[in-house]
Amino acid sequence: MKGNRENLPLNNIYLGDCRELLTGLPAECADLVVSSPPYNLGKEYEAKKALEIYLEEQTAVLRECSRILKKTGSLFWQVGAFSNRGMLIPLDIRFFPILESCGLIPRNRIVWARQHGLHAIAV
Ligand SMILES: C[S@@+](CC[C@H](N)C(=O)[O-])C[C@H]1O[C@@H](n2cnc3c(N)ncnc32)[C@H](O)[C@@H]1O
Repeated sequence: MKGNRENLPLNNIYLGDCRELLTGLPAECADLVVSSPPYNLGKEYEAKKALEIYLEEQTAVLRECSRILKKTGSLFWQVGAFSNRGMLIPLDIRFFPILESCGLIPRNRIVWARQHGLHAIAV
């Protein structure tokens, strides 16, 4: 995935580790970043880590995302909640200061109401 901002191929899907793929992209080449990153729940594709370690790792990814975003670009970062010993921490709350430290401006928060899964609410 090489190229400069002007001649990046469109409509391609790259399979790989985002921590490597993002570093191969030029600065300010993307209008939109959409991600549903791991939520640190211990799913099959991740090892559950201490919250601060998880956030540090995601910060490194977000720094790369903000580097490749155009100044007019947008980022959608979909996360769930972290729970530890009965305490629930909505991850987006912890991500807001990280987004700001990356030079991004948090503009909105969308909360999904679902009737199944970890974050289900009774309706
Ligand atoms: C919360 S799930 C999102 C699933 C996705 N929304 C879907 O519908 O398939 C997180 C996804 O991130 C992937 N993932 C974990 N670490 C990654 C990494 N370093 N680079 C790229 N993808 C990663 C996992 O394999 C998993 O599919």
